Amino acid sequence: MSSPHILMCPPDHYGIEYEINPWMSTERQADHALAVDQWNCLRQLLVDAGAQISEVAPVAGLPDLVFTANAAIVYRQQAILARFKHEQRQGEEAHFRNSLENLGIEVTDPPDDFSFEGAGDALFCGETLFAGYRMRSDAGGHQEIGALLDVRVLPLELVDPYYYHLDTCFCPLAEDEAIYFPGAFDEYGCRVLSENVKKLIPVEENEARSFACNAVVVGRKVITNTGCPRLHEQLQTAGYQPVATALSEFVKAGGSAKCLILRLDGEEAAAWKRKPAIG
Ligand code: ARG
Repeated sequence: MSSPHILMCPPDHYGIEYEINPWMSTERQADHALAVDQWNCLRQLLVDAGAQISEVAPVAGLPDLVFTANAAIVYRQQAILARFKHEQRQGEEAHFRNSLENLGIEVTDPPDDFSFEGAGDALFCGETLFAGYRMRSDAGGHQEIGALLDVRVLPLELVDPYYYHLDTCFCPLAEDEAIYFPGAFDEYGCRVLSENVKKLIPVEENEARSFACNAVVVGRKVITNTGCPRLHEQLQTAGYQPVATALSEFVKAGGSAKCLILRLDGEEAAAWKRKPAIG
């Protein structure tokens, strides 16, 4: 099997230059040297887990370019590019397009008139694409993406502004297993999740606030920010190998481990990844 392939962007120009989610305050800057250390540690953990890393060149004036999860959703060798909701991030789109095309990935525009923030809001678990909407991505756009890729989409409304992307409150681990923070969804969303994912691991609020759900899954390894000991126990019991790495400087922008990566070869939990393409 080929090694996991991950897209990252070095934090050379990372900082808190505007406020587009409740975690961000321009009064609370990230410590640049520490952010660089934390990013390098995450990168090394991924390399140690067997991943191949490709990089987007950092660009001055685009401080959130480090959050490559938002670049696109990748399905086989095709990417549907993001259309950012906030103009502060719209300048990232062209850079992500170039980086993906340079890697030989075919890039398609997102559906017209809808905002869409890539793998931050669209995650495969088994055959299904779970899609977060309301804060950043639009529900109608998710349905069009589902039609384009010919996959079933289950839209999940995000109800708490602290969990503004689906990957801050939901993380598929395997085709039938995921981590989630119930408080980020309404009752209907919680029901959709429990009816469609066989094994759900709930995260407590204090650990959700430490971005417990924003995990990177590589094989059986599950990498999260520090401050999620209870989740790590649950993961161990479920047969995973949890790894904690400090990401405090990225939490200041409302992001953590999973936001800093884009899996180009498909997430572990995506059923399509293990099936040959037909037609
Ligand atoms: N400051 C960025 C934003 O608000 C953080 C993005 C985090 N990315 C993610 N996939 N959750 O857009």
